[in-house]
Amino acid sequence: MDLPRLGQGTWNMGDSPAKRAEELATLREGIALGMTLIDTAEMYGDGRSESLVAEAIAGQREKVFLVTKVLPSNASRKGTVRACEASLKRLKTDRIELYLLHWSGSHPLEHTVRGFEDLLAAGKIRSWGVSNLDLSEMNGLVGIRGGAACAANQVLYNLSRRGIEFDLLPWSRGHGIPIMAYTPIEQGRILGNKALSEVAQRLGAAPAGVALAWVLRHAGVVAIPKASTVAHVRQNRKALDLRLDAESLSVLDSAFPPPRKAGPLEML
Ligand SMILES: NC(=O)c1ccc[n+]([C@@H]2O[C@H](COP(=O)([O-])OP(=O)(O)OC[C@H]3O[C@@H](n4cnc5c(N)ncnc54)[C@H](OP(=O)(O)O)[C@@H]3O)[C@@H](O)[C@H]2O)c1
Repeated sequence: MDLPRLGQGTWNMGDSPAKRAEELATLREGIALGMTLIDTAEMYGDGRSESLVAEAIAGQREKVFLVTKVLPSNASRKGTVRACEASLKRLKTDRIELYLLHWSGSHPLEHTVRGFEDLLAAGKIRSWGVSNLDLSEMNGLVGIRGGAACAANQVLYNLSRRGIEFDLLPWSRGHGIPIMAYTPIEQGRILGNKALSEVAQRLGAAPAGVALAWVLRHAGVVAIPKASTVAHVRQNRKALDLRLDAESLSVLDSAFPPPRKAGPLEML
């Protein structure tokens, strides 16, 4: 299954019984609208997010591209396999389309990659990738045996966090490794920006839709906004049909300038 361009994040979802019905309805609406990539992690709510996802995808598993993540503290060769098996149980499925290392920790990447390969051989994952790895870590990864099979790097990227455009994004494109942009609308903090609102108004779109279309303007970039209301997920889906013209891009560049030099990879 190919990597869908626009997916759904699930951080902080599944924690509140009062919100559960709406969260489930939102994830299902997103899938119905084609936002079939669902991103979760063993860390989110100590597995509660994965359990919510299991419920949302019940009866339609074959439509969904599931992404989940192993915590760095579990990412030894054997620990990666054990963590994945626990995620599979919570997700009530027999395979994960893309399994990511959440960030790099004390276990050598070589060991984690061996764990990923064990999982691939067992048919428990279809591909593997990483998250929050900067340029020098990515260079290290592709240099180790099997490391070039990395299928994605999930990193912070949105209008107000453009650092990867300087180096990591071009490098990733050159190596054919997709970037999965997390927190693509900056958890809502950029949505009140005047320039973004003006562009949105001119295009007849919601600010979130414009912010997502902006992230998706590059080939090889996937976005995973989190929405917990049906109205939000519908607005977000519209990003796929939105083309930002040169004027919109220039207004946004003035309000959110591109990086002029290399800096440390930002993360949340
Ligand atoms: N790998 C990592 O280290 C890492 C780190 C952070 C995030 N992530 C992943 O990336 C996903 C997305 O990032 P995020 O959750 O941090 O932030 P985000 O997607 O940038 O923003 C989510 C916030 O924006 C609101 N929102 C969504 N659609 C909206 C719309 N159309 N209009 C107005 N507000 C809207 C949501 O409100 P409602 O909930 O009320 O709809 C929520 O408060 C996460 O859920 C997680 O799966 C990964």
